[in-house]
Amino acid sequence: MLYQETKKYDEISRKAFRSGPEIVGKSGIETAPFLAEFVRMTSNMYRLGWDERNGGNLSYLLEEAEVRDYPELSHPKRRISLGFCVPELKGRMLLVTGTQKYFKNMERDPETNTGIIRICENGEEADVLWGFRDGGRPTSELPSHLMSHVARLSVNPANKVVLHSHPTNLLAMNYVHPLDENQLTHTLWQMCTECIVVFPEGIGVLPWMLCGTSEIGRATAEKMKEFRVVVWGMHGVYGAGNTFDEAFGLVETIEKAAQIYMLTAHLKQINTIRDDQMRELAEFFGVTYRKGILKE
Ligand code: 13P
Ligand code: ZN
Repeated sequence: MLYQETKKYDEISRKAFRSGPEIVGKSGIETAPFLAEFVRMTSNMYRLGWDERNGGNLSYLLEEAEVRDYPELSHPKRRISLGFCVPELKGRMLLVTGTQKYFKNMERDPETNTGIIRICENGEEADVLWGFRDGGRPTSELPSHLMSHVARLSVNPANKVVLHSHPTNLLAMNYVHPLDENQLTHTLWQMCTECIVVFPEGIGVLPWMLCGTSEIGRATAEKMKEFRVVVWGMHGVYGAGNTFDEAFGLVETIEKAAQIYMLTAHLKQINTIRDDQMRELAEFFGVTYRKGILKE
């Protein structure tokens, strides 16, 4: 290959695989541990088949100490209007996936597919500090993410992660199981021994609603005061946690339970985990489970 051609080829490769370590060295934010975890989580969600195309979104509330070493964040690139108001988060920074971006592509180019925003003093706008390199915007589900962060922080100041996803079996279950909080929780608790220990508060459920709106954001946040997981009827799920592992593990457990349901619901059931056994589990593991679901 001629030198000129090699240069051209390198340029094309660089554009296609911008963050490939073998082509361009990572620097600044791209070396941040929180970004690596964030990207790893979206990639896992993609590989599990939960997040087709641009489906799903993820947000992570950053602490000052985590971003201290990245001076590039002190120079806002542009300001965006949120279309809703979250005064509770003013001054807070979040790493969030971009709208219409594919989880499939996160690993290859986080700077285009994600971004870091800081909520302005008025609570109605945000500064883009890094990312959304192609002029993109945060996820269309930003109302649900930000309002859920506010709701979770009001009951648990350590909450940092909010995720939205379309897990296959949980979504399938929406079409064949009543969308009643207590009934759905009971069925899921019965599907795997450890469910009642992993989500003793049960799961919240919203009926089908128009997504990407402040209305669904407010409704999700209301549920998030009581539950760390909220099912969006015939759409997907919201999950929250103090760490990426916690939020992911929660949804992973629920999706596994839904899978067992979908594998067995059409078959003659001859065994089950009884309510008294679930109570025994909760007592042994010392968890306080939601009342009104198990027969007392
Ligand atoms: P975004 O591409 O805007 O993140 O939307 C994906 C999605 O799952 C909508 O509910
Ligand atoms: Zn969705």
